[in-house]
Amino acid sequence: MATAFLTLACFAGIGHAQFSSNYSQYVNLFLGTTNGGNMFPGVCAAPHAMVKLGPDVESGNTDAYSGYLPSGQIWGFSMMHESGTGGAPKYGVVNQMPVKGNVSNPLIDLGQNRSTSDVAQVGYYKSSLSNGVDIEVSATEHAGLYQYTLPSGQNSIVVDVSHVLPSFRGLGWGQGYAGGSFQPQGNGSYQGHGIYNNGWNLSPDWTIYFCGHFDQAPTSQKTFTGNGTTLASYGNGSSTEGTYRQGGVFTFDKSKVTSRVGVSFISTTKACQNVQSEIPKGTTLQSLTSQAQTRWTNDVFAKVQTDETNTTVLTQLYSYLYGMNLLPSNRTGENPGWQSNEPYYDDFFTFWDLFRCSTSLWQVILPTAYEEIIRSLIDTWRHNSFMPDARSSNYNGRTQGGSNADNVLADAYVKGVRGKVNWQDGYAAMRTDAEVVPPNNHDPIAPDSSTKEGRGALPDWRSYGYITPNFTRAVSRAVEYSVNDFSLTQVARGLGYRGDYQKYIKRSQNWRNHWNPKQSSLNFTGFVVPKYGNGSFDYPYDPEQCSGCYWGDPYYEDLPWSYSFNAQHDMAHLISLAGGQEKFVERLEKFFEPGVYSGNAAYGNTVFNPGNEPAFNTPYLFNFVGRQDLSVKYSRHAALAYYNAGTGGIPGNSDAGAMQTWILWNMIGLYPMTGQTTFLIGSPFFRHLSIDLGGGKKLVITSRGGDRATAPYVQSLRVNGRRWDRSWITWDDVFKNGGRMDFVLGAEQTRWARGAPPPSPASSARNGHWGWW
Ligand SMILES: *[C@@H]1O[C@H](CO)[C@@H](O)[C@H](O)[C@H]1NC(C)=O
Ligand SMILES: *[C@@H]1O[C@H](CO)[C@@H](O)[C@H](O)[C@H]1NC(C)=O
Ligand SMILES: *[C@@H]1O[C@H](CO)[C@@H](O)[C@H](O)[C@H]1NC(C)=O
Ligand SMILES: *[C@@H]1O[C@H](CO)[C@@H](O)[C@H](O)[C@H]1NC(C)=O
Ligand SMILES: *[C@@H]1O[C@H](CO)[C@@H](O)[C@H](O)[C@H]1NC(C)=O
Ligand SMILES: *[C@@H]1O[C@H](CO)[C@@H](O)[C@H](O)[C@H]1NC(C)=O
Ligand SMILES: *[C@@H]1O[C@H](CO)[C@@H](O)[C@H](O)[C@H]1NC(C)=O
Ligand SMILES: *[C@@H]1O[C@H](CO)[C@@H](O)[C@H](O)[C@H]1NC(C)=O
Ligand SMILES: *[C@@H]1O[C@H](CO)[C@@H](O)[C@H](O)[C@H]1NC(C)=O
Ligand SMILES: *[C@@H]1O[C@H](CO)[C@@H](O)[C@H](O)[C@H]1NC(C)=O
Ligand SMILES: *[C@@H]1O[C@H](CO)[C@@H](O)[C@H](O)[C@H]1NC(C)=O
Repeated sequence: MATAFLTLACFAGIGHAQFSSNYSQYVNLFLGTTNGGNMFPGVCAAPHAMVKLGPDVESGNTDAYSGYLPSGQIWGFSMMHESGTGGAPKYGVVNQMPVKGNVSNPLIDLGQNRSTSDVAQVGYYKSSLSNGVDIEVSATEHAGLYQYTLPSGQNSIVVDVSHVLPSFRGLGWGQGYAGGSFQPQGNGSYQGHGIYNNGWNLSPDWTIYFCGHFDQAPTSQKTFTGNGTTLASYGNGSSTEGTYRQGGVFTFDKSKVTSRVGVSFISTTKACQNVQSEIPKGTTLQSLTSQAQTRWTNDVFAKVQTDETNTTVLTQLYSYLYGMNLLPSNRTGENPGWQSNEPYYDDFFTFWDLFRCSTSLWQVILPTAYEEIIRSLIDTWRHNSFMPDARSSNYNGRTQGGSNADNVLADAYVKGVRGKVNWQDGYAAMRTDAEVVPPNNHDPIAPDSSTKEGRGALPDWRSYGYITPNFTRAVSRAVEYSVNDFSLTQVARGLGYRGDYQKYIKRSQNWRNHWNPKQSSLNFTGFVVPKYGNGSFDYPYDPEQCSGCYWGDPYYEDLPWSYSFNAQHDMAHLISLAGGQEKFVERLEKFFEPGVYSGNAAYGNTVFNPGNEPAFNTPYLFNFVGRQDLSVKYSRHAALAYYNAGTGGIPGNSDAGAMQTWILWNMIGLYPMTGQTTFLIGSPFFRHLSIDLGGGKKLVITSRGGDRATAPYVQSLRVNGRRWDRSWITWDDVFKNGGRMDFVLGAEQTRWARGAPPPSPASSARNGHWGWW
């Protein structure tokens, strides 16, 4: 620990006198915990650690997606959480709740207000309750440490096996407790397991095992079962056990009590091994906190260095780097589903969110974890028939649009990820998505086809080349399926599957079949719209609405305007359909114009919704039409207007870190075109940024003459010392072997990028030819 910090101090100290080598101090754990960000502020001891130990808060009928809410009553600290998700809460299991005095009835609501705001650092969390009880926690990857400071006299710790995070939305996505066991072992130890079900991904029963040790024998202990009346009973999951509850109460007479708890998806024995090996008896909270900070520093923070001295901006940078790496969870060695030597990751929430900006940044910053994630996806296909678009509690689901793991695999493939990835199997997994209709899971909210995995609307996609209103989310799925099919071409080409390449490049153009050239909106014509099986576009519909934009509607979670920009593999064709370059610039500028659309009040009523992923690419699309300056204008405006270092500093759900990665790419000054080697050039935030790419390689990005807010426009650029006149670079230019980009910035909007526009691979593909390259 000390050694690691000394090394860093020397490294970061060169030339940057004001920057402290203690990166953890810049992480605001509460960034994105309000304003719908739903970030998890509790303890995650390492990037992608399985255990996420933090508070569970109850506040009226508010869903606490990550367990935390800024106000309300603490009703437990549990070991398993998601971060930044929407939909409905998942997990909140393996719980302890300290209670002042004796507990005569553990089935009543034991929630307590806080006497002061919670405190959090990397690897540490503290809540002080209004009854004088303090809870401090730290953790490792598979275990947690609770440290209680209690009022004088008898006090109790309740272990409630039936504790889950409830959902009050009434959508049928509440979790259920389906039974379990609780066995005190004597001398303040206990073991058991809990079985839970449902939640956002409608999972069947899944089991987690636990093994707890208090540091002292209790003065008394008892177990309980019963039908409870507290929050757990609002879960309305599919559990037949309903409100049945179970657990134990341990009473102590000392003012300091600590508890070590291990968890496992395999067995109580494994849970006991996990706590024994990671948090042996006598381990201090402080040592675990230091260990977590060292781990995050070495694995993530120290890889990104800047000469920035403004602590607000440093807080943004390092908090985003933290927030993008909580999910998915590395559950290698903890896979109850199948025996395998491959890595296992769970809690993908979801690729619909993550494929656009996150997966490409994992490759840059965490290449080892990234390769493991790719292998895990392929292994999930091997044993569960499909790769997930989303997955939690060891079960695929739910799928919002396309099979977007295809895009992730394509991106990894074209950027040279090989290692231990079996690409024959990887391609077979992608081909399953493209060819096999997934069994319908009869989801009440979208009964037409599977929401679990794969591409439910494949029958229409194959027979019509578009998706009829017989299927929910028909238009947004069609646009995504096109991108997915393009992704297949990228791997098929590399593996030499000529026939598949030709088939899927054609299918990747099928989004065009939804383009109605007569559809108009806000004085622009041509949008992707619903299309009947008889070819007619006369589906009653208004392109400035999407009649709910939800599971049963033609578009999912964004407007036709957004989806009409989303065929990012076929931009040249899209631009010509939209009326050519000038019209396309006007259309994009309309998209960002305040006051033209009444549905986005939080964002000045632009059609553009910065709070959700389908519009992520839009501010950068000006690069395709010779107006890189406008990409800088609109992307920087979004970065400065909608993101900040505070609790509300993320627009909308973080979505497992997806939002953090959008702004991180803006800070770097690039935008990834997932599935292609192309990165669109924006404008860097910093005068000097250095990213450690591993193996001694570095990407260095410098800028001079500018100001991120008032003078962000590119005047000129050198890439690896050569004058650059294109608004894009490729992976090979600066990432493969490292590289550097030196920007001159200024207040003037210049047309510096007069070179070739970024590639539009599906537009330049010609039928009958093996390819465009
Ligand atoms: C680094 O900062 C964190 C957060 O402020 C603090 O908990 C920790 O003790 C510091 N580490 C060192 C080595 O100073
Ligand atoms: C709590 O219960 C213990 C054991 O049953 C008893 O000795 C003690 O007096 C009780 N304390 C209070 C405050 O009721
Ligand atoms: C918590 O605070 C709220 C509002 O201040 C109050 O209504 C409630 O009774 C408190 N709960 C407890 C258990 O003290
Ligand atoms: C779940 O609970 C909500 C709110 O209590 C209720 O409106 C809804 O009908 C319930 N759903 C099911 C499937 O029981
Ligand atoms: C509890 O601890 C005491 C002292 O260490 C020991 O003698 C006793 O056997 C233990 N009891 C159990 C049930 O483990
Ligand atoms: C809980 O309620 C169910 C049905 O409502 C009943 O069958 C069961 O016996 C009750 N369990 C307990 C422990 O009271
Ligand atoms: C630091 O950055 C923040 C956010 O961009 C800005 O509001 C603030 O003025 C800056 N502080 C200084 C001292 O420049
Ligand atoms: C994932 O977890 C396994 C088992 O704990 C470990 O061996 C592996 O190194 C972890 N991966 C990363 C990237 O830390
Ligand atoms: C559409 O064009 C008309 C005529 O030029 C103009 O009056 C109107 O404001 C435009 N509408 C929008 C939404 O820009
Ligand atoms: C829509 O589904 C119905 C019922 O399955 C079927 O009869 C009809 O042919 C489908 N329509 C189209 C356009 O495929
Ligand atoms: C096409 O099919 C739709 C839905 O069945 C129907 O409402 C419409 O009238 C048909 N249009 C034509 C031109 O046949």
